[in-house]
Amino acid sequence: MPKPLLADDPLLVLARAAATRAYVPYSRFRVGAALAGPFGVIQGCNVENASYGMAICAERTALVSAVAAGHRRFERIAIALPDAPPGSPPTAFMPCGACRQFLAEFVGADFPVLIDGVGEFRFDEIFPYPFVLPNERSGA
Ligand code: THU
Repeated sequence: MPKPLLADDPLLVLARAAATRAYVPYSRFRVGAALAGPFGVIQGCNVENASYGMAICAERTALVSAVAAGHRRFERIAIALPDAPPGSPPTAFMPCGACRQFLAEFVGADFPVLIDGVGEFRFDEIFPYPFVLPNERSGA
């Protein structure tokens, strides 16, 4: 069960702002993410393409931007989906499976995932069984 959110948690506010920069001419479904760590906050939005399957989600945009900037330790992520119709079930707001696996690379079981309009989850609540490459092949 998610914990209740503070509606004006600064990280949620930054996720909402990031959603306004989404490039979504195909789905018209904006998503924003704000990833916090010792470095501060890095935002991401979804970026679509005429070749539909190449779309990159907001969460991965934020994570890739952060890693490319040299950051690998993260404290919280907030996600905002302002185009989910009012009254949508919580499933309309959850990060996709690819983004959960992507997060699993860098965050621990208790990493807080704040989903605007839904609540705050522990990472292992939303992704209990990540794929983990066996030791001898992992590049960490
Ligand atoms: N999308 C995200 O940005 N994050 C998710 O976790 C779910 C889906 C985007 C991808 C696409 O641009 C649009 O939402 C509709 O699927």
